[in-house]
Amino acid sequence: MNNSDKLSMLERAASCLVRYGPAFSPVEIHRAEGAYIFDGSGRAILDFTSGQMSSILGHSHPEIVQVVSGQIQTLDHLFSGMLSEPVLDLAEALCSLLPAGLDRVMLLSTGGESNDAALRMARLFTGGHEIVAFSQSWHGVTGAASAATYAAGRSGYGPHAVGTMAINAPNAYRPAFLSGDSHDWAAELEYGFQLIDRQSTGALAAFIAEPILSTGGMIELPEGYMLALKQNCEDRDMLLILDEAQTGLGRTGDMFAFEHEHIVPDILTLSKTLGAGLPLSAVITSQAIEEKCHELGFLFYTTHVSDPLPAAVGLKVLEIIVRDGLTQRAADLGKHLANGLKAMQTRYDCIGDIRGRGLLRGMEIVLDRDKKTPAPELGARITARCLDMGLSMNIANLPMLSSVFRIAPPLTISRAELETGLAILDEAIAIEVR
Ligand SMILES: Cc1ncc(COP(=O)(O)O)c(C=O)c1O
Repeated sequence: MNNSDKLSMLERAASCLVRYGPAFSPVEIHRAEGAYIFDGSGRAILDFTSGQMSSILGHSHPEIVQVVSGQIQTLDHLFSGMLSEPVLDLAEALCSLLPAGLDRVMLLSTGGESNDAALRMARLFTGGHEIVAFSQSWHGVTGAASAATYAAGRSGYGPHAVGTMAINAPNAYRPAFLSGDSHDWAAELEYGFQLIDRQSTGALAAFIAEPILSTGGMIELPEGYMLALKQNCEDRDMLLILDEAQTGLGRTGDMFAFEHEHIVPDILTLSKTLGAGLPLSAVITSQAIEEKCHELGFLFYTTHVSDPLPAAVGLKVLEIIVRDGLTQRAADLGKHLANGLKAMQTRYDCIGDIRGRGLLRGMEIVLDRDKKTPAPELGARITARCLDMGLSMNIANLPMLSSVFRIAPPLTISRAELETGLAILDEAIAIEVR
């Protein structure tokens, strides 16, 4: 029996779906196009999170629609050991955008899966098993990725992989180490690695990091930090894995966020933005790492590895980003967005900090600017008010630590749409702090 005419989606969900995280959204979305999602009555809601931070070309981009429908009619899915042109084309296109040292590609489906593969590769290559991450990280919910995820979901599932360790992420707004009045991130990093060295059994394999920690509260690594992190890894013969699920492909104003840091990671993972909303991820490494792993029998054989359909989508995503100058667009519109948010900060005491790069911005909500007390309830009220007024926003709450809006509209959003979003946010805050 289909109850869809009588019951709301939430009511239907209550009797047929597993709840896999925070409560389902109360809005019922029936359609999405460009920077907007639409409910059953046709009401438009501006999507400031690009779906789950992925739809960088907006929803149902006409050229992506065309690629999906054309590709599925010619070559959809294959035996995992078979090659196809879309896979090789996408691998070559990625390598042409990346520096030397990132020249071998494996195509998978999700972010967690790509990080699992990267960590597996690092373990095999180094012969170690210990993995270090930031204590505010999110790398996915699959095995090794979830073991290296500290922002949420650690308790209740028994032991994680032996040898998982964390250091504090450097947060300039809430500095754990001070030198005078300024954040002493170098001392913080050194202290972090002192603790790692004491805990290590001499089997360090890799450090995995997001260049901007999104779920952890849009924490931007300070200038020079990544270089120092890479040096710490090299000193210990560990690999540095960068997870650019959210920062990759133009969003931060650079094609890859690591370019901003003037380093090249040993392994790069891409996901969310690569399929621009479709499930596609990539693990990219050097020829030397690939060769040694292969000699040692590297196995990561999944049903959807090297699938032609999502690969064709990824290829079109790259083509559109380069052709339409979306990286520069993210840099330019990102400045406009940041200026709008900073102007708002002068009007509302509850806005503690604005940070991030390009079209990936964080806005931290506090109860008291001096004490920087996190304000999850106020954040939730602003989020709900925005949704009522036609703007979809997401707030990341680290319990007792921070409440940070993660603002990541599609790179194709127009200036006028961006301003509409800012105006709604401004009005929603005004109502909720009144
Ligand atoms: C930085 C980062 N890495 C990995 C993941 C996991 O990706 P997925 O949910 O596709 O497995 C996420 C998801 O939010 C993420 O933000």
